[in-house]
Amino acid sequence: MFKLEMSDATWSRLLVLRQGAGEGVPTEAAYRLYAPIAGATGRFVIAQVGQSLDGRIATPTGDARDVSGQDGLAHLHRCRALVDAVIVGIGTVRADDPRLSVRMVKGASPVRVIVDCHAELDGSESLFHDGGAPVIVFRSARAKGIVLPGAEVISLEPKACGLDPHDILDALAQRNLDRVLVEGGARTIARFIAAGLVDRLHVAISPIIIGSGPSGIALSPIESLAGAYRPVTEVYDLGSDILFDCALRPQRASGRQGQEIRVANEA
Ligand SMILES: NC(=O)c1ccc[n+]([C@@H]2O[C@H](COP(=O)([O-])OP(=O)(O)OC[C@H]3O[C@@H](n4cnc5c(N)ncnc54)[C@H](OP(=O)(O)O)[C@@H]3O)[C@@H](O)[C@H]2O)c1
Repeated sequence: MFKLEMSDATWSRLLVLRQGAGEGVPTEAAYRLYAPIAGATGRFVIAQVGQSLDGRIATPTGDARDVSGQDGLAHLHRCRALVDAVIVGIGTVRADDPRLSVRMVKGASPVRVIVDCHAELDGSESLFHDGGAPVIVFRSARAKGIVLPGAEVISLEPKACGLDPHDILDALAQRNLDRVLVEGGARTIARFIAAGLVDRLHVAISPIIIGSGPSGIALSPIESLAGAYRPVTEVYDLGSDILFDCALRPQRASGRQGQEIRVANEA
């Protein structure tokens, strides 16, 4: 297991790498974890889940604010600071009314993207009024919605699966938003994984037991474990939380190969 220690100097180097400059010295755990995101070129998708020991991301009533510990939250904010856009589904906006900004670390907040297929947002949500990063809303071209304050609304022709994640990423790429964090919830992340579009999946586990409530990824049921994803995985001790860094597309993500779960031991 890698112990994550983040100094101001290392974080500054990662922010420089994010701007396309600087050279990587991938020896320390922080660089090993974040350089693939900061230094990604072209399309790169990371999904992140903050969950309890029993695999829940919220209570049955949708309370999710304190699932992750402080270091898990700092990790999430670092991920936000390293991407161009952060995507959430309408369920997350309804449950959390999130700001999706970078507050716990130095760095710019990403463009905020909401998948609102049926045009359910009513414009009262905080992120339309907080003066933060730009907001983009994806809707079905068949949905009739109201004008949302200050937001760009992109209408996509729906497919059998709803809004095709490929179409969402293509529309973002046309706006130079290539590095994307899919932050939740379970159904939105699942659609990007099922479409084969997630390069890295980060699962941060906090020592809390909720007992019931939704899980972090809502993929279609499988009959046997032979159909399960078994990504190459490295494990990081964040402090308050333990992070599983899963390479879902290893050939693009970092050169890691194979189909095994692996706990790497730092030399
Ligand atoms: N702990 C964490 O890391 C974390 C992070 C974020 C959110 N959360 C929690 O997760 C919960 C919300 O999760 P959720 O799964 O209910 O909501 P969600 O994923 O935010 O949104 C789900 C809704 O968006 C629709 N949707 C998503 N992608 C779509 C697409 N490509 N095309 C068409 N429709 C699409 C879904 O439609 P379908 O029903 O048709 O699939 C569903 O109606 C909340 O309790 C929130 O607090 C936790």
